Amino acid sequence: MKDQYHRTINYLRISITDRCNLRCIYCMPESGVSFMPHSEILTYEQMIRLVKLCVGQGIRKVRVTGGEPLVRKGVVSFLKNLCDIQGLEEVTLTTNGVLLRELAQDLGQCGISRINVSMDTLKPERFKRITRRDLFTQVWEGIEAAVSAGLHPIKINVVAMKGVNDDEVLDFARLTQNKPYHIRFIELMPGAETNSWESQAFLSSKEILDQISTLGPIQRVSSSALDGPSQRYILEGAQGEIGVIGAMSHHFCGTCNRLRLTADGHLRGCLFSDRETDLKTALRQGQDDHQLTELIQKTILEKPKDHGMGPTNRRKCTRTMNGIGG
Ligand code: 5AD
Ligand code: SF4
Repeated sequence: MKDQYHRTINYLRISITDRCNLRCIYCMPESGVSFMPHSEILTYEQMIRLVKLCVGQGIRKVRVTGGEPLVRKGVVSFLKNLCDIQGLEEVTLTTNGVLLRELAQDLGQCGISRINVSMDTLKPERFKRITRRDLFTQVWEGIEAAVSAGLHPIKINVVAMKGVNDDEVLDFARLTQNKPYHIRFIELMPGAETNSWESQAFLSSKEILDQISTLGPIQRVSSSALDGPSQRYILEGAQGEIGVIGAMSHHFCGTCNRLRLTADGHLRGCLFSDRETDLKTALRQGQDDHQLTELIQKTILEKPKDHGMGPTNRRKCTRTMNGIGG
């Protein structure tokens, strides 16, 4: 269905857990993270029921996120069940890749369309600094296992940060020349737990594109109705693609097509608005499909016009990024 600003809402992101096996500097503190109690997390059955109702309201694409979704037991069967939902055209997954090596084969067979892997650096030492875990090789092998399992093209999400990995923008871009990877640079967004280093580390999509254009001619690729907010480009003669997500500096809110379901059953119209609908309580009270559908419709209608932020006007949300799913 459409929201009150005439945006078609067809994309649902589901966070199935807020737990994670990494501790990325822009997402979580090193220690002392408090996770949702297991009893507060929706069961897979409840999630499937809500997704079916959302499909009834026009959702055509679901992305499963976390925390790290692959740490939750039973995730592959859940993905399979999602893929079986009539009317859902695309099921995708965003993972940090840590468990990809062991799960790639099963993921390749469960019916999902594609995966996104988060990988902010091509340097093992730096990976350890950004994620606070020494798992670069494991993740890289996971990406290769996913390619072998037929999950290509693999999208690699790179959060671009000045003074952290901005000297690797060109290395990542060059990777697309010889390999069919889709590299997507994401502007750093303020999380609830991070400090002011992120305003200094902010690297705009324009700065990223300026760097990339020094490599040669780049061509804009048009996006389709189910695409996220990424602007897509191809370097001349390249096998892969480059995408830039101007989360902060571009007002992509005008064409935002998404809703988010948190692991504890709250439906949100916007990553940065703290307005959310408590579907878990409604489920526990035994509300029927009609009542739940009304709550979903209400969330769509209340979806904010925009996040109201720019690079110099940053705001934090009360939930941490791992609790909403990025
Ligand atoms: N800024 C930008 N991207 C972020 N992600 C998590 N936290 C942030 C942040 N503060 C990204 C992850 C992953 C996706 C799910 O969200 O790197 O690619
Ligand atoms: Fe985990 Fe993703 Fe947060 Fe990194 S950004 S700590 S991989 S949830």
